[in-house]
Amino acid sequence: MRPTLYISCLLPNPVMAIARERFHLVQEPLNTLPCPAALREGLCQADAAIVTLGDRIDTETIHAATRLKILANYAVGYNNIDLAAAQQRGLIVTNTPDVLTDTTADLTWALLLATARRIVEGDTLVRSGTWTGWSPTQLLGADVSGKVLGIIGMGRIGQAVAQRSMGFRMTVLYHQRQPLAAATCSQTWQYRSLHALLEESDIVTIHVPLTPDTRHLLGARELGLMKPTAFLINTARGPIVDEGAMVEALTHDMIAGAGLDVYEEEPAPHPLLTRLQQVVLLPHIGSATLQARINMGRICLDNIQAVLGGRPAPNQIHEYGGCGT
Ligand code: DGY
Repeated sequence: MRPTLYISCLLPNPVMAIARERFHLVQEPLNTLPCPAALREGLCQADAAIVTLGDRIDTETIHAATRLKILANYAVGYNNIDLAAAQQRGLIVTNTPDVLTDTTADLTWALLLATARRIVEGDTLVRSGTWTGWSPTQLLGADVSGKVLGIIGMGRIGQAVAQRSMGFRMTVLYHQRQPLAAATCSQTWQYRSLHALLEESDIVTIHVPLTPDTRHLLGARELGLMKPTAFLINTARGPIVDEGAMVEALTHDMIAGAGLDVYEEEPAPHPLLTRLQQVVLLPHIGSATLQARINMGRICLDNIQAVLGGRPAPNQIHEYGGCGT
């Protein structure tokens, strides 16, 4: 008898093929997230589950799913899961670190450059058919090369973003709870308090996990410390920034622009954000390459096989924020 697996949302074909071969699926997943009742029903029937960051796994759901032994989160972030409740009930929770580090760092840079150099506005102009030709004052953006890059959260993704800045000859400042150990820190990365990083950086990019401590880490006061010429980039989690305060800061030219892949309430960004030209908005695609998504699925399945086979899960999460992003 194959163990029963619940998958909340359709995964890339190669992952689904392995899942169908090794497990009995509670049901064939759809390409949309299940409603909370359907999610709970699916989890209650399964020995193991793969859920996504849009599935809210609360205390009640965890306690209702008595048969479930492992919840494999198809993401590196796991703020969607009540970890304390899972631990209390002995439910193993895993995530998908490493395989999306480069992918997310690449996307961060795409967003950073698109925001500073007004790529989306340029594309819109050409497509509109109203472009009248080259002009010395058209779509003037900001230089990135040689500027100061402030990285909040120097975990795997933060470091990968920092490494990519070398080609742009940037000064890298970073902030997190503790400075990096000398062995893992490039000699050119400089530790700063959050306050100093915000004051000194030309581009601030966020790479901390969402935890109770990092919720609204950047609010009105912090955004007010940034240079009026600075850009804010967020490919981590929306609620790390107070979205209302960010809209105020953008509207009053307290910062120059923002590149966002994540929002406080997905999939509904603050309504004013969509009206601001100095903002580039992406639909949470940080890890969205076929290879990364296949690898994320493989990690989920490996963790599930380990746990159901009585072995430790390679990517078990033990505490909030322990692994960074
Ligand atoms: C993650 O893995 O946490 C990402 O946000 C998914 O794209």
